[in-house]
Amino acid sequence: MDRSTQLTARPAERETTYGPPGAHAPAFGTSLHVRAARVLDANWTGSSTVPSRNLYPHQWSWDSAFIAIGLRHVSPRRAQTELETLLAAQWADGRVPHIVFNPSVPLDAYFPSPDFWRSTTAGRPAGAPRTVQTSGIVQPPVHALAAWLVHCADPGLSRARGFLARMYPRLAAWHRYLLHRRDLGGAGLVSVVHPWEQGMDNSPCWDAPLARIAPAPARSFRRADLAHGAPEDRPTDLDYGRYVRLAADYRDAGYADGGGEFAVEDPAFNALLIASEHALARIAGELGAAGTARHARADRLTAALVRRLWDPASGMFLCRDLHAGRPNHERGVSGLVPLILPGLPREIAAALVRTLCGPHFGLGGRTRLVPSYDLLGEAFDPHRYWRGPAWFNTGWLLERGLRVHGERERADALRTAVLRLAEDTGFAEYVDPYTGAACGATGFGWTAALALDLHHQAHRDLRQELHKDLPKRPAEGVSKAATGTFDKRDEGGDRG
Ligand code: SER
Repeated sequence: MDRSTQLTARPAERETTYGPPGAHAPAFGTSLHVRAARVLDANWTGSSTVPSRNLYPHQWSWDSAFIAIGLRHVSPRRAQTELETLLAAQWADGRVPHIVFNPSVPLDAYFPSPDFWRSTTAGRPAGAPRTVQTSGIVQPPVHALAAWLVHCADPGLSRARGFLARMYPRLAAWHRYLLHRRDLGGAGLVSVVHPWEQGMDNSPCWDAPLARIAPAPARSFRRADLAHGAPEDRPTDLDYGRYVRLAADYRDAGYADGGGEFAVEDPAFNALLIASEHALARIAGELGAAGTARHARADRLTAALVRRLWDPASGMFLCRDLHAGRPNHERGVSGLVPLILPGLPREIAAALVRTLCGPHFGLGGRTRLVPSYDLLGEAFDPHRYWRGPAWFNTGWLLERGLRVHGERERADALRTAVLRLAEDTGFAEYVDPYTGAACGATGFGWTAALALDLHHQAHRDLRQELHKDLPKRPAEGVSKAATGTFDKRDEGGDRG
């Protein structure tokens, strides 16, 4: 473990005594920073952060992106390393694998293990790396957004290390892979070919497309997750049989795209790609290149997202099952995530806020945190993974979305709820949306990281609030970082 980068509390933070604005301010002082940073320290392997020591003992792609966003407040250097380690395992065709396996972890600690994916042999035609074992599917492209935010935490360090200059070609190749190889519907949007790719594994949104898949026989594989998670919090054996079948078929086709039985255009996956395209435009700008073409592409993607997945009757975005040739009317939280896009038409953003606060998701009313699935849906289950429980990464995304669209009070309340529940549950993987009871793993990487990020944003907001009447000119010799000045553009809060 690299102790030199283990900074549990940065000096500026030790002195901080206030928390986020609002009634609960005193509850979140330094202790949240310290406790969240301890989780990230405990999950750090020396080159990346595991989501959970027991349940997920390797490096996961979108987890790492979210983790880097929080880790930048603890150690910008470690946050850079997190993304560098992930992108070092990129395949020659541009895909960023959803898991990078740690060779020192026993094979039976996680299923499906490297000997299932066989990336170095089955992945050879697609250019899988030879020196590291990975899975062959992908996860949502949060990485360019994360790289930009990590850069902004310490631009001096980032420039000195050539961080963005090294990341940019890899991130550009990653987006190229998605836009060129995964536009399976031909309408300009990216499709996922496995529920694990979208990240919300057993969401009821996948029930219909998964029902067509013949499950692998239960005795042909052995799940490792049930040794660490309560069976009622996890996907069922039938789900797993289908996940295994889909992944094995993809592997046996040499990880070539376009031939699989499962292909879905998902609103969150595409919205995150759009947000990351905007971030990539900023990265290009920082490196002295023009980002205009990327912003324009992001705008075209936003238009395609609205044209293809917006459902006015539901007041939210829906998934589109390419094999069925129609939208799927289940309401998953994924359909609210496009709220993070500042370029969304105003009436669509307003409708999304209404849906978020209405009976299906209950924000500000019946729920403590936004559920992953429709409270009124037949398949709703408050404990089973992505079939109802509230997750902290979607809470973070929706907090950002509300703020971007000027819903400050709602954003503040959601932020407070995320911080309170993250801390009260020992940084649980997910929670019952009604009671806030912890589900899944505790000491979960992205929960700690994203709570840290919201905690630090709250500090910046409060400092702004406290200093709003002071002259704008910064005191001589006081750096931007030291004053904690927060430029919304740095954080992707506008189009820049
Ligand atoms: N989320 C999946 C799991 O539970 C795979 O990424 O292992």
